Amino acid sequence: MTDATVTLGTPLSSTATRAMLLGSGELGKEVALELMRLGVEVVAVDRYEAAPAMQVAHRSHVIDMLDATALRAVIDRERPHLVIPEIEAIATQVLLEVEAEGVARVVPTARATRLTMDREGIRRLAAEELGLPTSPYEFVDSREAFGEAVERLGMPCVVKPVMSSSGKGQSVVKTPEDVDAAWAYAVEGGRAGGERVIVEGFVDFDYEITLLTARHSGGTTFLAPVGHVQVDGDYRESWQPQAMSEAALAEARRIAGAATEALGGWGVFGVELFVRGDEVLFSEVSPRPHDTGLVTLVSQDLSEFALHARAILGLPVSEQPLRAPSASCAVLAEGSGVPVFSGVDKALAVSGADLRLFGKPRVEGRRRVAVTVAQGEDVQHARLRARAAAAALRIDLVEP
Ligand SMILES: Nc1ncnc2c1ncn2[C@@H]1O[C@H](COP(=O)(O)OP(=O)(O)OP(=O)(O)O)[C@@H](O)[C@H]1O
Ligand SMILES: [Mg+2]
Repeated sequence: MTDATVTLGTPLSSTATRAMLLGSGELGKEVALELMRLGVEVVAVDRYEAAPAMQVAHRSHVIDMLDATALRAVIDRERPHLVIPEIEAIATQVLLEVEAEGVARVVPTARATRLTMDREGIRRLAAEELGLPTSPYEFVDSREAFGEAVERLGMPCVVKPVMSSSGKGQSVVKTPEDVDAAWAYAVEGGRAGGERVIVEGFVDFDYEITLLTARHSGGTTFLAPVGHVQVDGDYRESWQPQAMSEAALAEARRIAGAATEALGGWGVFGVELFVRGDEVLFSEVSPRPHDTGLVTLVSQDLSEFALHARAILGLPVSEQPLRAPSASCAVLAEGSGVPVFSGVDKALAVSGADLRLFGKPRVEGRRRVAVTVAQGEDVQHARLRARAAAAALRIDLVEP
């Protein structure tokens, strides 16, 4: 602890504390709202107009955040004190530059955004430098090397492009017949083009968790473990707390503490872990609030978004005892058009339930457009309520 006083100015004046979100989705929207509550001037950036966080920000800009020149130009124009990446697909060399030049503070650090922008930096850091337990893995660049890696690791194994999220390009190779399709899918699903993929041994875990970890001026605070289910690599339901043995929880905290300390800086991190008995494996980490952590909108006094806002401003974060066992349920829409929600009244009539409609301007394909959250007597009860609220929602995609 230092004696330094945190000073916050007034938005839209020369005294303002300015924050720039790079990525303006539903998670960024909640962060923007929490920053707004503390009188921070918020600038939202994304590659498309009317992104959720733009709708609640003081100003917004539409740029390709992988375009280094465009990214630098928008930072130079707005001169934010804080740059807050919300996605991985960013020209991270610009973040390294602005941090080194003292132009802005990057959340949590420029190096952390660099290391977590693809699967390789963070996996090598965790497994090879920190010695944390992970699934066995290999990185390969060609179909031939891929085939050899699958043989060495054995089947089933999991294949993912090094640059992707939400399960894009990810599949499980169960038999030799799957190898060609898995390769083609991974190469096509990678964000940065290129053919680099990770092949991981399949972990037959009992359950998986996100250990939300806040690094702040007062130290490191672990939130209650969030359990979740993923379908096609995309989160569908989460709950808090996930029941864990004392040994597994202690190991989860040890791993999360080590990984987040190595990344450094202040903010909330979502440390993804696989648990089998008392054994815990590190999977990956988001250096920002995590989608499975949407459950904290209802489970704690301060959500992961509020804690992130406080931590990055240099404010201390207090322990967050659970208000009640809680759950969240992602609401997806599929098709093409502008979402219109009906049954919102019915969803909110579910006892203990609440929701967020993200305000995404359009759906093309399959997209998460809302989330329901609920408290319950126990986790199972909360999950049933969150699901019931989600089922009560109807989404029409229209062309206004
Ligand atoms: N080696 C593995 N063994 C078993 N299951 C795995 C393995 N790797 C990933 N999975 C499953 O796939 C999910 C998504 O994997 P991962 O988190 O690596 O991908 P992602 O695209 O980064 O997802 P997101 O961006 O949604 O976090 C995991 O949460 C887990 O359920
Ligand atoms: Mg993940």
